[in-house]
Amino acid sequence: MQNHTSGDNSGKGHSKAERFSSTGFILTAIGSAVGLGNMWKFPYITGKYGGAAFFLLFIVCLLIVGLPVLLAELSIGRGGRGNPASSFFRLSNSKTWGVLGFISIVVPFLILSFYSVIAGWTIHYAVISFSNVLYESSDFTEHFNSFAASNLPVVWQIVVMFLTGWVVAKGISGGIEKFNKILIPGLLALLVILMVRALTLPGGMAGVDFFLRPDFSKLSTESVLVALGHAFFSLSLGMGTMVTYGRYVERQQSLGAASLAVGGGDLIYALIAGLIVFPTSFAFGIEPGQGPGLVFMALPAAFSAMPLGSFFGGLFFILLAIAALTSAVSLLEVPVAFVMDTWKWTRKKATIFTATACGLIGIPSALSVGGILGGYTIAGKPLLDFVDFVCSNILLPMCGLIVTLFVGYVWKKAGEEAGLSSFWFRIWMFVMRYIAPVLVVLIFLYSAGVIGFK
Ligand code: PFF
Repeated sequence: MQNHTSGDNSGKGHSKAERFSSTGFILTAIGSAVGLGNMWKFPYITGKYGGAAFFLLFIVCLLIVGLPVLLAELSIGRGGRGNPASSFFRLSNSKTWGVLGFISIVVPFLILSFYSVIAGWTIHYAVISFSNVLYESSDFTEHFNSFAASNLPVVWQIVVMFLTGWVVAKGISGGIEKFNKILIPGLLALLVILMVRALTLPGGMAGVDFFLRPDFSKLSTESVLVALGHAFFSLSLGMGTMVTYGRYVERQQSLGAASLAVGGGDLIYALIAGLIVFPTSFAFGIEPGQGPGLVFMALPAAFSAMPLGSFFGGLFFILLAIAALTSAVSLLEVPVAFVMDTWKWTRKKATIFTATACGLIGIPSALSVGGILGGYTIAGKPLLDFVDFVCSNILLPMCGLIVTLFVGYVWKKAGEEAGLSSFWFRIWMFVMRYIAPVLVVLIFLYSAGVIGFK
């Protein structure tokens, strides 16, 4: 086994104490994976791309591509003991790979600039649901639009950046790990309460049927690509997050087992989110495939018609906010770790700098959905959608491809770091060399509009 400890002295900010405990690491990685992707995006794309059949496809993508790439990212991080740029460089001794790794530091920074805006919406909705203001009028579409047109999204976005920065500034074991150890199990408990409520709604079972009884005729080629893209997004892959978390993992931790736990955890939260959103939507006659507005415009209608609706609605949005925050923390950690390494800054200083820069960059996004910048579009999209489009559909598949090629063809000691048996190692390498790159290129070409489907 190689001795990688020389990589540990990457700046005074990264003392040797920066390590996860074993359960802390798993919960933190689950915290990163479980986010707006599971509870806000997954139900809406499942509604749109084929219901239960799409869900099955998503599980297949998670198993055959998501888990192997997750293992690859964690191995790169622990093997290189650095940020994505320095880890790629150390493990290959090639500047080109270091530069390629750097791309996956820029992506989470950009993603956080708009992810924090949506996370801010969820906190706002939690507050107005608990206080009943949300239910004063029954036009929830109008409610959402007038909120988005105000300056309030900026205020909430700054609150989110502040909270995220506060956790990241406290460091790995004192901040990020502690935060996730409390919130991730708490989130599960609250979601289960909400799921029981949803499943006992009259008419809710039609939603369960839609979500769990597959009808394969509803699938299209596009469904496959969307499922694969979502497996990446949902497991926080292609954004340097898992590489960055991998560096804080102890040598004795099994990365294969950790990958299984994170993949399983992510799936369970998606399953529960589906078992909340679909029964609720069907019980109240709401179209589940209507798009990103589903959670903010339609679910309040459902909550308003339920006994104790403002409480259950508030609970739901708090959960969404918590899930978003644990993911936002993992997004911020990537550029913060890079700044600490590169400029030898303390964690606190690096966090203040990065969170402030990201917060400032996010303000125009916060004002672009019907706000004062709502009239300006880039490539026909409001700024927030544009940044999301470029990051999720172009940069993310690119970083995913870099990871698969690096582990499949460049880094010869990947197998030692991953610690797999020779049987599983051979399967893993096959996926890294042939299956994952081909599929990622397909997603990329599709997202870039080079290939299209009707
Ligand atoms: N996996 C998160 C979600 O499903 O919402 C999104 C995400 C978080 C992506 C952190 C990437 C990341 F680094």
